[in-house]
Amino acid sequence: MLFDDELEKLKKSGLYRTLKNIKRIANSKIIINNRELIDFSSNDYLGFSAHPQVIENCIKCINTYGIGAGAARLMSGNNEIYCILENLLKNLFGKERALIFGSGFLTNSTVIPAITNKNDLIISDKLAHSSIIHGIKSSDAQHHRFKHNDMNSLESILKKYRQNFKNCWIITESIFSMDGDICPLNDLIYLKEKYNCFLYLDESHSFGLFADNGAGLAKQLNCADKIEIIMATFSKAVGSYGGFIVSSHSICEYLINKARGFIFSTALPPVTLIATITSIKLFSEERERIINFNKLVQYTHALLKSKIINTPSASQIIPIIIGDAQKTIQIAESLISNGFYVLAIRPPTVPQNTARIRISINYHHSKSAIENLIEKMIELLY
Ligand SMILES: Cc1ncc(COP(=O)(O)O)c(C=O)c1O
Repeated sequence: MLFDDELEKLKKSGLYRTLKNIKRIANSKIIINNRELIDFSSNDYLGFSAHPQVIENCIKCINTYGIGAGAARLMSGNNEIYCILENLLKNLFGKERALIFGSGFLTNSTVIPAITNKNDLIISDKLAHSSIIHGIKSSDAQHHRFKHNDMNSLESILKKYRQNFKNCWIITESIFSMDGDICPLNDLIYLKEKYNCFLYLDESHSFGLFADNGAGLAKQLNCADKIEIIMATFSKAVGSYGGFIVSSHSICEYLINKARGFIFSTALPPVTLIATITSIKLFSEERERIINFNKLVQYTHALLKSKIINTPSASQIIPIIIGDAQKTIQIAESLISNGFYVLAIRPPTVPQNTARIRISINYHHSKSAIENLIEKMIELLY
């Protein structure tokens, strides 16, 4: 049958993926095959997907608006809730305007080809998320990649190629989704200004967690005004769904007219927007939650360091690099059978020979759950 050989190859190399039937329950617990596990895989970092206020507002919204938006935003899918949320976002980042898309993947994959053409250059971090890569592949611009978070590598590409192109976009992420490390944002801004480039920053994993108002890394470092496009998703710390950019008025207007994934895709359900608005308000109303979450992340890093377990991470996403894909799966399966739901991340999601166990900390984890997970991991690693 078509693709059977390819599927067989994936199975032999430990890269075969299957879907599990998972029931998420509150407080970072999940149920798989009638077994309750502690979930160390979720991006719902602050637990907002099941926050009582979010649920209450969503129920009210469904009673008023129903479920689906019915059409794309340029048809009849736009509504006052979009306006409220886009204003909230624009003010949070101190930008001229915000524009919401169907998802984070749709945002990156549709904005990048819309803002670039064949006279332009894109330089992206080598570990950029798949949605960014998808956007770059759909663009007519010429593309080079710099070594991960390496400013010398970025500058050598700029020196060599920048002068041959009209516009140059540097694209990177604030927290990297598979390594959990953080980009050197001030250095990136220095280079983008020195070489007269534009910066596109994906804040998907920092939105909600960094800066006093939760806006992310750029706001924390006070440099959001120096970044032409900041992008993020509502599917991580916000706990709902959808993606957005904040930028200038003219870039947003241009995208409304040119971004195919905006024009030709149905608007988000109103209830999803209401969930997002409620969560974003909780960023400041329940600031303690974010502070405690960040303390838990620091606690985990200190514990790993004391046990001499290495990770490239400086955030809530904590990969333990194993290397071999089969061995990584075995370790993940043992952890799962001991009650800890962790993900085995394998190529092509990460580079060859860097398969890893990815631990994701969330607000509802107890210190003892984290300690037990690390103890079990030590047993399996050594
Ligand atoms: C860095 C980054 N950008 C974009 C996305 C896509 O976001 P969404 O899940 O909203 O499609 C993700 C999600 O995994 C991500 O990690």
